[in-house]
Amino acid sequence: MLLQPTDYGKLQEEIKKLKEEKNAVILAHYYQRPEVQDIADFVGDSLDLARKATQVDADIILFCGVHFMGETAKILNPEKKVLLPEPKAGCAMADMATKEAVLRLKEKYPNAWVVSYVNTTAEVKTVSDVCCTSANAVRIIEKVPAEEIIFVPDKGLAYHVSKRVRDKKIIPFEGFCPDHYLFTVDMLETLKGKYPDAPVGVHPETPPEVQDRADFVGSTSQLLRWATSDDLKADRVIVITEIGLKYTLQKRRPDREYIFPTPDEGVGYLLCSQMKSITLEKVYETLKGEKNEITLPEEVMEKAYTPIRRMLDWSS
Ligand code: 13P
Ligand code: SF4
Repeated sequence: MLLQPTDYGKLQEEIKKLKEEKNAVILAHYYQRPEVQDIADFVGDSLDLARKATQVDADIILFCGVHFMGETAKILNPEKKVLLPEPKAGCAMADMATKEAVLRLKEKYPNAWVVSYVNTTAEVKTVSDVCCTSANAVRIIEKVPAEEIIFVPDKGLAYHVSKRVRDKKIIPFEGFCPDHYLFTVDMLETLKGKYPDAPVGVHPETPPEVQDRADFVGSTSQLLRWATSDDLKADRVIVITEIGLKYTLQKRRPDREYIFPTPDEGVGYLLCSQMKSITLEKVYETLKGEKNEITLPEEVMEKAYTPIRRMLDWSS
């Protein structure tokens, strides 16, 4: 059944009641649908959400995001129930890296540290030395006590980092986000041609040649701060990341216009269908039945904990 916007209020009330009854907390990524963000106790980017997952005092964490995010919350809270409203909501980039491929690279570069983006499976994290997100990647890599770094899996973020950390050799993996990485220079030129006065901010998952033409490159939360800041003297801003962020931008600073890639602007949507597969109905059904619990083998949880914990310690 497809919900009309007018139905959301009733369902949102039901979800709130369930949250109280079950002592549950809802964490949601900025790429979630607006009506899902609205019932969340906390909305953030992947670093904010990993941090928040260590601070919640609830029996159930209902995670509105993709699978690796729910796994990270579970690894940080082995004793809590972590539920994912759509168990098939995966991240195509995370699935591009396997534990075996990382081990092969480790054999080739025995002195290198493995830094894995949180957008990896728990299995990959078990063979990683430290994790990072796009918000703290530069900081984490600067702290790594090795000169060679195997960076898994995003080649866009690897490029962003290698431009900023010059004294370390970054060995990139060949992964990418099928949504961000397919945004081209031609698309950017179309938007710039239409809005020549608008500064451009892009997510580091975009291709190198797009990053090189931007005024600002930053993670989801960094884009949010940049695009809404008073220092930016602009009435409109071009933002190249997933369309979900537009909702928070408009709420946070309604007097500015945010141009995202959409067919109306003459380019395709930059939209993560996996993130959008979580609906309010699924949130309700999952919480009601306490369904779709994330479970991981104990050994995997223990080994994957170390690089995640190290990331949080190094970025606090
Ligand atoms: P953030 O780390 O900016 O939240 O990005 C996560 C992600 O999946 C972007 O595509
Ligand atoms: Fe993964 Fe890309 Fe979706 Fe982010 S936007 S969750 S990197 S597929």
